[in-house]
Amino acid sequence: MADKSNDLLVGLDIGSSKVVCMIASPVSSSTFKIEGLGECKSEGIEQGGVVDINQAVDCVRAAVEEAEKTANTTVKTVAAGISGPHIRTDNCIQQTIVGSGEIEQKDIDDLLNTAMSVTLPPSMRYLDVIPQEYSVDYARRIRTPIGMEGKKLEGSLHVVTAQSAQCLFLNKVIRRTGLELIDSQLIFNPLAAASAVLRPEEIDLGVALIDIGSDLSDVAVFFDKAVQYSAVHPMGGQQITDEISIKTHLSQEAAEKLKLQMGQVRYDARKDKDSFIRLPTAPGYSDDGGRILSKQALSAIIDVKVQDILEKIYYRIRDKSLHTQLGYGVVLTGGGATLPGIQRMAKEVFSSHMAGREINVRLGRPLVNYETSEFVPPELYNTESFPKQFAGYSTPQHAAVLGYLCQLNQKFWAQGSNIGSKRKLKSIGGVIKQWIFGNF
Ligand SMILES: Nc1ncnc2c1ncn2[C@@H]1O[C@H](COP(=O)(O)OP(=O)(O)OP(=O)(O)O)[C@@H](O)[C@H]1O
Ligand SMILES: [Mg+2]
Repeated sequence: MADKSNDLLVGLDIGSSKVVCMIASPVSSSTFKIEGLGECKSEGIEQGGVVDINQAVDCVRAAVEEAEKTANTTVKTVAAGISGPHIRTDNCIQQTIVGSGEIEQKDIDDLLNTAMSVTLPPSMRYLDVIPQEYSVDYARRIRTPIGMEGKKLEGSLHVVTAQSAQCLFLNKVIRRTGLELIDSQLIFNPLAAASAVLRPEEIDLGVALIDIGSDLSDVAVFFDKAVQYSAVHPMGGQQITDEISIKTHLSQEAAEKLKLQMGQVRYDARKDKDSFIRLPTAPGYSDDGGRILSKQALSAIIDVKVQDILEKIYYRIRDKSLHTQLGYGVVLTGGGATLPGIQRMAKEVFSSHMAGREINVRLGRPLVNYETSEFVPPELYNTESFPKQFAGYSTPQHAAVLGYLCQLNQKFWAQGSNIGSKRKLKSIGGVIKQWIFGNF
């Protein structure tokens, strides 16, 4: 029987709260079919980084084995991502002299390689360099310069760097699981999540994608068909749980359960139905006669933390003067985005300096058709081919892993099968560039 495993796309999200492995088969250049899913609680990962390599290997292995079992296959190569407070990003302008008079892919590669030859501190390495727009002999705002005549090619670039040690640790975890990272390159998480949930018109009009995870909130701002800004904030759902735990004297596990059970942001007494819960007494502490907590009181605890997270993100975007470029608005994804009412709060925070204009906010839920298990690409949202029902794993928590699969799928159709083989391949960065320029 022919070995089909080379044609499979495998995404691995090593997050701070869960590890997810998804196996898919390519269907067309815009979609793929989910064949298997494995998920387990993270151990040995904090703030997106490896803190205990053995624990991390064990849970990656468990997630991969479960995915292999459900897909009835074995996998060899994976696409995986990275995030963490060590990530640094910036915009820069780079120039190159065009070799033959007509701009070719080689000239663009030269431009990107020159940008990546700028010396970094020894602890850092380049993760990606993404073109925003080009100029050819001072003619500006060019999206695809290939085929144009010119002497000087200039690119406005978004540069992402990461701590070398964290890249190596993640790579090691993957290798110790018996897998190989495609092109030895990790994908920057918010850019992956964006490819799974953002619509082309949002990327054009201006949108802030905020992936609120467990320990991290990843941000990417797009405008004029390109990424303008990205950042990682060391805050997420875990900080909300910690706050509940401190304020209610519950264990972290009990506080997390309480948050999932009746957590809500911006409780509105006119619209929301209140409910009450009797809190258990923490082990070893005196029984205070049975404490009752209302949904409204819990919301007051959660509000403070969520507002803090969203405001910090908003102020960084405002510092870059990008808050006025959010013509579409804000897309919230990641597990933290499923907290009821969080969209209301994001709307308030992001509209606060907009002179009466209200920012749109929506949930970034990647969609997988329930009947066919096929991923629904964001460009098909709101069209007639929109399916009626979605698979259970179409959740914001899976935006990053589905984003890796989107990028791998594009690579598959651009380069043919054996994407994990040793032959020379375009980098994942190339795929991100292709994704931005190819789709939008
Ligand atoms: N229904 C829900 N209501 C509130 N919070 C939720 C809900 N579901 C998940 N969360 C929170 O989402 C967070 C996990 O999100 P996610 O799975 O995106 O994180 P991760 O990718 O593992 O972590 P990170 O991206 O920070 O490395 C947890 O803090 C969890 O409590
Ligand atoms: Mg995450």
